Amino acid sequence: MAERIPVLAANWKMHKTIQEMEAFFKVFLPLVEDVHHREVMIAPSFICLKDARRIVAGTVVRIAAQNMHSEEEGAFTGEISALMLRSIDIDQVILGHSERRHIFGEDDEFIAKKVKAAVQHGLSAILCIGETLEEREAGLTGKILSSQLDLGLNQLEATEYDNISIAYEPVWAIGTGQTASLDQIQEAHGLVRKFIEERVGEAVAQHIRILYGGSVKPGNVRQIMALEDVDGALVGGASLDPESFASIVKYEEN
Ligand code: PGA
Repeated sequence: MAERIPVLAANWKMHKTIQEMEAFFKVFLPLVEDVHHREVMIAPSFICLKDARRIVAGTVVRIAAQNMHSEEEGAFTGEISALMLRSIDIDQVILGHSERRHIFGEDDEFIAKKVKAAVQHGLSAILCIGETLEEREAGLTGKILSSQLDLGLNQLEATEYDNISIAYEPVWAIGTGQTASLDQIQEAHGLVRKFIEERVGEAVAQHIRILYGGSVKPGNVRQIMALEDVDGALVGGASLDPESFASIVKYEEN
């Protein structure tokens, strides 16, 4: 089986000013100094990206954007493009987060264009997918995940999958404190890997990283990371505190 380096990613959403970000890193960076063999990623707000890059230079931490537009430029008030991210050396982006889908109305077609634009501009993208509670209760989880993958990835060539990770984030588990069960997580991740295998072959499927997100915290991350098809975690609330996120990064010590 291909070796997949674990990735622990923080999604700060609309939290932390520049000053709060600086205070976070002051405590966080020494705590993860001795961390090896994993990727640590933090996605602060757009305005923090440039300073965050400077602060983490030379450390294990990489900085990601939480979103971007699919076009390079244009009349899109309030938006940020891949070109702009690259101009400040950002090469990671989260796309299709459920808050983008459900609060800001982003659909699969728009997300697919963003995924394509990201890889074309040399960014690695984490494509987020996940079912709502109603969809799960109606027995539609598999169908929804397949459809989000199908539409979200449909503009990619097989060679472009190297720059893609998938985050499975059940909408009902995000910010609710209600984590999906280990069985539910493994089942969904297995389905994602199978989908990738059917679409672009086993080698890519064994290589691609699949993250779980939804109420991950220091107390449950170790068990989640131990699941066969879980290669990382995307963490919201529990990533805002430096000690808490450092403990998630060092999950095998929990
Ligand atoms: P949460 O958020 O960890 O606060 O549930 C996860 C996410 O939205 O990525």
